[in-house]
Amino acid sequence: MDSCLRRNDNKHGGSFIVIRRLENILVTGGAGFIGSNFIHYVFKNTPFCGKIINVDKLTYAGNLENLVEIENKYKGKRYFFEKADIGNFDKIKRYLKNMILIQ
Ligand SMILES: NC(=O)c1ccc[n+]([C@@H]2O[C@H](COP(=O)([O-])OP(=O)(O)OC[C@H]3O[C@@H](n4cnc5c(N)ncnc54)[C@H](O)[C@@H]3O)[C@@H](O)[C@H]2O)c1
Repeated sequence: MDSCLRRNDNKHGGSFIVIRRLENILVTGGAGFIGSNFIHYVFKNTPFCGKIINVDKLTYAGNLENLVEIENKYKGKRYFFEKADIGNFDKIKRYLKNMILIQ
């Protein structure tokens, strides 16, 4: 079975396959504490098989060391980092457009 698909039990005793899934996720502040743990969690503990783009301004709190393992394994394939301020509308708009194109 495709590892992206999940079999769920329902309350009537049967089961069904969830065929709707996330294609890509844009994480803001992914080099920080919550964001980097979220990225680790999604790659390691969920059936997600899309791509993650991490947009982070790299303030004093952002540290790409938090993501070395993820970069080594997924960079350029399923993990992408963009250094940017989320207040930069044009950049964010471009990343969102690219996310649709990289599916
Ligand atoms: N070991 C621990 O338990 C531990 C460690 C650190 C933080 N914390 C807790 O975690 C919480 C904070 O975590 P967090 O992940 O929300 O914050 P964070 O400060 O750890 O990370 C925020 C991230 O957002 C980025 N960022 C900030 N402004 C941005 C902007 N305009 N555009 C793009 N990126 C931007 C920063 O560079 C940083 O990487 C707090 O409650 C803190 O006490 C716990």
